[in-house]
Amino acid sequence: MKLLLTGGAGYIGTHTIIELLEQGHDVVVVDNLSNASSVALERVEEIVGCSIPFYQVDITDKVKLSEVFSKEKVDGVIHFAGLKAVGESVEKPIEYYKNNVAGTITLLEVMKEHEVKNIVFSSSATVYGAPEVVPIPEDAKLSTTNPYGASKLIVEGILKDVHLSDPTWSVVILRYFNPIGAHKSGRIGEDPNGIPNNLIPYITQVAVGKLKELAVFGNDYDTEDGTGVRDYIHVVDLAKGHVASLKQFNTGQEYIYNLGTGQGYSVLDIVDAFSKVVEFDIPYKIQERRPGDISTCFADASKAFNELGWKAEYSLKDMSEDSWRWQKGNPHGYQ
Ligand code: NAD
Ligand code: UD1
Repeated sequence: MKLLLTGGAGYIGTHTIIELLEQGHDVVVVDNLSNASSVALERVEEIVGCSIPFYQVDITDKVKLSEVFSKEKVDGVIHFAGLKAVGESVEKPIEYYKNNVAGTITLLEVMKEHEVKNIVFSSSATVYGAPEVVPIPEDAKLSTTNPYGASKLIVEGILKDVHLSDPTWSVVILRYFNPIGAHKSGRIGEDPNGIPNNLIPYITQVAVGKLKELAVFGNDYDTEDGTGVRDYIHVVDLAKGHVASLKQFNTGQEYIYNLGTGQGYSVLDIVDAFSKVVEFDIPYKIQERRPGDISTCFADASKAFNELGWKAEYSLKDMSEDSWRWQKGNPHGYQ
């Protein structure tokens, strides 16, 4: 299949390109490079040994996006493009809704005009809010507490309605848990702007000496060691989940899958795993809870296994080693 990847120059997109090409698919990348570097795509080309068609286009630009669709006859879209920082979304809600919601509407309009009716959408476990049960099944109650999460939930609803209105659309919503790790080559990985908000990039930057110590946000949660529990999934496993989900294209159905490992780890479990990999104790200090954080979140990942034959394979040790290889070899990311 030939697939157009919006946001394909980003963290998850670049890893997914590699897995798609390995499985014999063709890709076209559309990205405005608002949170990515063209170096990332050059590195992917180096890994896969061929060039990747790339268009620096904003998905909110209907004319330019339509030109790409006219030129490249694609069978479907994997829609990664979006802004993803929770805190920033609270400060800049209009930007987030415009980019994530209006951008998706423009994309869907263009897809419809070009008769491309297969889409995979990057949703997030954030749509489960504070979950009432763990592991979290796909039919759990949904809620959000910030514009980023709301934008994901709104787009899920739009996609559902589009499919209902015209059952020739095939829609796959993938709810990612916490993607970490990097490609084994150490050439591509997560490259956050400024001081990282997320746990793993923060830890690796402490390990590489860019940051002094990790602040552990709270040790009074109702968990084994009191720190927050999450479902960390290797980005390459996640990328493979996208490839597996393509099986639902051209079915005229709408599907929702959790992409997680089904296993929860606490912040201190993660600190411990990274300390082993870097061979020294990662310095940390217990601090106040971060507002908006939940105690425990991990997936019931059985639906993706039963219906797509996909499950996560990499261990926490693999994820830590691969994150570290990327950070150590690229202390300043792609710069
Ligand atoms: P990323 O920021 O690395 O990738 C997103 C890409 O989209 C970037 O390359 C950015 O330049 C591009 N982009 C943003 N707005 C665009 C626009 N208007 N037009 C064209 N390109 C645009 O993020 P990622 O971690 O690879 O995440 C990919 C998707 O998965 C996002 O939608 C994100 O919300 C979702 N997601 C990510 C996580 C995570 O922890 N990384 C978790 C759950 C869901
Ligand atoms: C965050 C987002 C979530 C998004 C997900 C994607 C918030 C509130 N939530 O989730 O919407 O879908 O990223 O990966 O930003 N922690 C520390 N110290 C740190 C950073 C994190 O102790 O410096 C802890 C957190 O309290 C949490 C765990 O580490 O328990 C994971 O945090 P993080 O990596 O930010 O991910 P989430 O909060 O799960």
